[in-house]
Amino acid sequence: MKKFLALALAVVMVLAIAACGSKPAAPAAPAAPAAPAASAAPAASEAPAAPEKKSVGVCIYKFDDAFMTTYRNALQEILEGKGYEVTVVDGNNDQAKQNEQINTFITQGVDALIINPVMTSAAATIIDTVKSAGIPTVLINREPTAEEMAVYENLVYVGANAADSGTYQGELILDTETKGDINGDGVVSYIMIQGDPENIDAQLRTEYSVKALVDAGMKVEQLNLTRGDWDREKGQTICANDLAQFGDKIEVVFCNNDDMAIGALQSIQAAGRTVNKDIYLVGVDALDAALNEVKAGNMTGTVLNDAVGQATQAVVSMEDLLGGKTFAEGEQSIYVPYVKVTPENVDEFM
Ligand code: GAL
Repeated sequence: MKKFLALALAVVMVLAIAACGSKPAAPAAPAAPAAPAASAAPAASEAPAAPEKKSVGVCIYKFDDAFMTTYRNALQEILEGKGYEVTVVDGNNDQAKQNEQINTFITQGVDALIINPVMTSAAATIIDTVKSAGIPTVLINREPTAEEMAVYENLVYVGANAADSGTYQGELILDTETKGDINGDGVVSYIMIQGDPENIDAQLRTEYSVKALVDAGMKVEQLNLTRGDWDREKGQTICANDLAQFGDKIEVVFCNNDDMAIGALQSIQAAGRTVNKDIYLVGVDALDAALNEVKAGNMTGTVLNDAVGQATQAVVSMEDLLGGKTFAEGEQSIYVPYVKVTPENVDEFM
């Protein structure tokens, strides 16, 4: 009897096992989670890991620059707000130092780079470096040539069309009552306080501000052109020297940026001259200090160099690159527009 029972049990077990094999969904095999396994299996090992933060290395040509300070603060805020791990470094206006910083970021394995080159002429080397490392890169503020950028399709430049800012400065002067010819001698006599002359923005603003006057049929005379390296104190000293040398002959003070214009304004006021009465003064950037002076009538005008707009676009472009988007030659420069700022519209920017 015992033997029979044992045999009967064995038969039942064999049948049950056979049934399991042929019918996986049978209730006899509840432990095998066949259905969910198919869709959930790959996720099971990933599920506990938190989404990894992407890291971005940001190289600024120098921290001690009024416009680039607003720009880098905006950049950092936008990137951090989007959950990126951000490191911003100061190139101290030293290209060799910046090259090292770029190499360090590459060694650390950052996911993307945003670089404001110290020197326009260093762009080709920088592009070679980031290309070899295969890192998606956004260049900002110093525009390389289209040919230089074309060697790496995972790279774009985000900035503004510098020639336009020069043209707008010229137009600000043309929009005045005397079109810049305060003394009515038929010639607009000006001084040019230039940024760093190696910088493409400085070159184009210097050229196009005067070109706008000439294109409008004005005669012009350049009394002096001096490099002020974007710096307020230098702007002040240069303007003081020029006022001492040329006095009332100066009708227009063109400054390649606002920080130098603010410096120039101090010298203009110290010399007893009055902006918009016996001298005109224009800058570029729309720094807060300059907006206040435009509103008060102490600057003829400025041109908005949209730091927040450019920082926003730089991040959008970086995300495009991270998403695998590539850019063909001629499509690698992305411009955020400049805007003329006068007492009439200054409130919109404050
Ligand atoms: C210009 C800006 C200047 C200075 C320079 C640095 O676009 O107008 O104020 O910041 O960039 O490269």
